[in-house]
Amino acid sequence: MKRTMLFALACAIGLAQAQAADTAAGKSLYASNCAQCHGPTAKGMASFPALAGKDADYLQSRLETYRAGEKVGANSSLMIPNARNLSDDDIANLSAFLSNNAQ
Ligand code: HEC
Repeated sequence: MKRTMLFALACAIGLAQAQAADTAAGKSLYASNCAQCHGPTAKGMASFPALAGKDADYLQSRLETYRAGEKVGANSSLMIPNARNLSDDDIANLSAFLSNNAQ
């Protein structure tokens, strides 16, 4: 009986870790740090690319590239400082939120 309880507990912890991305946290971070350029619904504006609905893996790899200070396009110098202080969790949360169409 005790073993079954422990097993169930271990499974619950495993599940909680598997769904690590917190879209609510991604949403509030986006609103305070990103929306002024990428737009309130992440649909993009002028030379700021749309983010909403893009693949989470794609967004994550882009953010990691900018965080590393590497250029991607002509306007990377505008984006790099905004990725510099993001944690792995921030990037996962932002990517999960944005790939879900950022509503
Ligand atoms: C000062 C304006 C500005 C802010 C603030 C900003 N960005 Fe950007 N972002 C840009 C620009 C400009 C580009 C295009 C850069 C290039 O040419 O490489 C870009 C590109 C991106 C890309 C790559 C898009 C693609 O399709 O390749 C992602 C992802 C991104 N930004 C996410 C974010 C997130 C998340 C935040 C908030 C933490 C943020 N940005 C804040 C200006 C900004």
